[in-house]
Amino acid sequence: MSNSAQIGVTGLAVMGRNLARNFARNGYTVALHNRTSARTHALVEEFGHEGDFVATETAKEFVEALERPRRLMIMVKAGEPTDAVIQEFAPLLESGDMIIDGGNAHFEDTRRREHDLRGQGIHFVGTGVSGGEEGALNGPSIMPGGSKESYASLGPMLEKISAKAPDGSPCVTHCGPDGAGHFVKMVHNGIEYADMQLIGEAYQLLRDVAGYSPAQIADIFRTWNTGRLDSYLIEITAEVLSHVDAATGKPFVDVVQDRAEQKGTGRWTVQIALDLGVPVSGIAEAVFARSLSGHADLRAASRELAGPKAKPLGESEAGAFADRVEQALYASKIVSYTQGFHEISAGSDQYDWDIDLGAISAIWRGGCIIRAAFLDRIRAAYDARPDLPSLLSDETFAQEIAAAQDDWREVLVAATRQGVPAPGFSAALAYYDALRADRLPAALTQGQRDFFGAHTYRRVDREGSFHTLWGGDRSEVEA
Ligand code: 6PG
Repeated sequence: MSNSAQIGVTGLAVMGRNLARNFARNGYTVALHNRTSARTHALVEEFGHEGDFVATETAKEFVEALERPRRLMIMVKAGEPTDAVIQEFAPLLESGDMIIDGGNAHFEDTRRREHDLRGQGIHFVGTGVSGGEEGALNGPSIMPGGSKESYASLGPMLEKISAKAPDGSPCVTHCGPDGAGHFVKMVHNGIEYADMQLIGEAYQLLRDVAGYSPAQIADIFRTWNTGRLDSYLIEITAEVLSHVDAATGKPFVDVVQDRAEQKGTGRWTVQIALDLGVPVSGIAEAVFARSLSGHADLRAASRELAGPKAKPLGESEAGAFADRVEQALYASKIVSYTQGFHEISAGSDQYDWDIDLGAISAIWRGGCIIRAAFLDRIRAAYDARPDLPSLLSDETFAQEIAAAQDDWREVLVAATRQGVPAPGFSAALAYYDALRADRLPAALTQGQRDFFGAHTYRRVDREGSFHTLWGGDRSEVEA
């Protein structure tokens, strides 16, 4: 077997197959391997004309087909299947070779694998790949971690197959060492959940309060997609809402069960944020909203509980309400991205990754699920001030949120009065108000904790920790 392939892909389900085709279409010789070799041969039969493929049957043949340093991409399910493939191939590799994991692995697994394989001189590159099967084929946003050395060899290839931002730059960057790439992808997915939840709330408000039909709401989203909300998720929302179910002639959205599923990356984002002490309330509400939607029995048992049912506005008021919803959606979106980038920054500090937030927002401008014109604004904000404490500290975003204030609050008044759940909009506004508050009820929390647990507190007027003798004369002692 000639060792001529610049890249090898093992795991030829849809994502792996499409990435292999993408590499081949871009002029690379691609070695192919799959646990069942029928899939390997089917790919060559159907797509062999797209470029140079080297079909292999065994792990040994696959490795021998690769030029040095070997670049071996794993595209199998996260978790144990990935560990199994690593165990199969690592013994066949030599120092300087690299294993690239393009699955949605947990970044802690990636850190473990990178550490273990580094001992054998093998580079392990945990790589987020975003954009679904279409992106894998035509250009995803790619978030590799791993060593600088591996990026020197792999980066140019990823830059060639990646999506390109509107300014032509490749939507790939070396996110940072070891698990940084999978961490960034995880937060990307958390932001994706928040974006989808906010869009869902805007849809429900336009449906129940404004009284619009799915087709009318699709037109509203199409209009929003020509402005500051221009994004892939807004674009596909209009497509989903305008789709009519062939079997019933009803709006597609009305024949789909309202129970959202989740593979887990949004959940991880919240779990890690809890450990890092980063409030990602918008992402958390999005994860919980998906979980709540799945509790069918609890919902059925609660359906008759007291509370208002939305009464649609008259036509003359509906348009103005829709404009208010756009403001609330945009403001809440800024908050969700603020929270997501805060988590990336906190993870970067915790794991010493030195992640460039401007570079991350730049590669999210194309290819990925959250791709949006808006991300170019975030890139500009971080490029101008890499030490920006929060996106809300950026003057332009602060001005846009200021302009959205009244509408954002009015929409929440309407949602509350009409009994339409808007946990994402509400959490975003609560986060915003908490950030700007002069005093928070945390002072009372500290007093309570000191009362029942002697957990001490700090004073505003002098240094040190203190405890009040609540059970005695209530005098204060320095802890
Ligand atoms: C992407 C997507 C993808 C995600 C699936 C399912 O960036 O291409 O985020 O990685 O895993 O869309 O996601 P959920 O099942 O978690 O919604």
